[in-house]
Amino acid sequence: MADRDEAVTLDAGDPLRALYDRFVVADDGLIYLDGNSLGRLPRDTPARLTEVVSRQWGERLIRGWGEGWMRLPTTIGDRLGAGLLGAAAGQVAIADSTTVCLYKLAAAALAARPGRTEIVTDADNFPTDRYVLESLARERGCEIVWIECDPQSGPAPEQVCAVLGERTALVALSHVSYRSACILEQREITRLAHRAGALTLWDESHAVGAIPLTLDDDGVDLAAGCTYKYLNGGPGAPAFMYVRAEHQATLRQPIWGWLGRAQPFEMAPGWVPGEGIAAMLSGTPPVLALAAAAAGIDVVLEAGIDAIRRKSIELTQYAIDLIDEWLAPLGCSVGSPRDAAIRGSHVALVHPDARTLCPRLAGEGVLADFRTPDLIRLGLSPLTTRFVDVHDGLERLRELLRRE
Ligand SMILES: Cc1ncc(COP(=O)(O)O)c(C=O)c1O
Repeated sequence: MADRDEAVTLDAGDPLRALYDRFVVADDGLIYLDGNSLGRLPRDTPARLTEVVSRQWGERLIRGWGEGWMRLPTTIGDRLGAGLLGAAAGQVAIADSTTVCLYKLAAAALAARPGRTEIVTDADNFPTDRYVLESLARERGCEIVWIECDPQSGPAPEQVCAVLGERTALVALSHVSYRSACILEQREITRLAHRAGALTLWDESHAVGAIPLTLDDDGVDLAAGCTYKYLNGGPGAPAFMYVRAEHQATLRQPIWGWLGRAQPFEMAPGWVPGEGIAAMLSGTPPVLALAAAAAGIDVVLEAGIDAIRRKSIELTQYAIDLIDEWLAPLGCSVGSPRDAAIRGSHVALVHPDARTLCPRLAGEGVLADFRTPDLIRLGLSPLTTRFVDVHDGLERLRELLRRE
């Protein structure tokens, strides 16, 4: 299994192999295990940006707004929703950073549950999610109910259920843990939250483009997520917001900008919500960033999420097998679920010196992420990570640990 030829054979038989060539690989010697932080550049992206910059902006100038720019947040949102989120049309918009989207959605949820004063989340949720919820709690006089749980597994439905009650306004969690890659039971947790009368907000940043999502069928109320990770949308690419159709008439986000207003060009006094998901928008769409995000999303749609998921399971299992075989005797252990059914597309490797090991590994030409306190996070992005990358990356880590 630890034979490199076997990794080469696995790559040769990979049904997604052809799509690897649709991405820029500028340095053949670099092993990139960070596609879950910043996805690789699709080869199509520069040409698509050039079209928007040179022809649309350069030639069409302000006419571009009437020729499609204004609708980009929702047209690309619908494409993402149908292909990757399990969301029917009219429920997804792409705008703002993930942080701002989370803020808008959480604020809207709290406003929709007056008299309820508790926000449930887990202590190991991604920092920006925790900070956004803390700021809202302070502003609205609410309290955060922190679920403390094993960081390798994340909150189970029973743990969430134990803290739900008539004071719960919102349950806000990450679907896939940014540390361990554990997949939470979104449907069951959502059901329990609804039974308590609360709304749910899911951060899908480490899930979208990595695992199949079924937001409509799971009953999810609200969701947000990055487009620059597995969707390869580019650094700082705008995030998506999902608002379930049945909530759109009543939920109100707090940033009342002109482009979320009905008939914005009337420039009329007072804010009245735009139609449907458009009411979640605030300001001018970032057209160039949206063009890059669309290029990334389109490659993922072409691959299809089922094929991506199949490869993700094989890649992460391959990494876990190598860690067990090569690295466990050198002081490493696996910090991600061993059960593929609850494992996303990265593998956390635990080592007491992870903080210093990670930059030294980068010195050996292997890019991964350090996450406090002792994790090296190996992002295995199915379209752009090959089995030989996993093999060679972990071999270089083994050699580094042996030398030391
Ligand atoms: C789970 C999760 N949420 C949010 C973010 C980032 O939010 P933003 O795009 O606003 O920086 C990240 C970034 O890694 C993340 O992993």
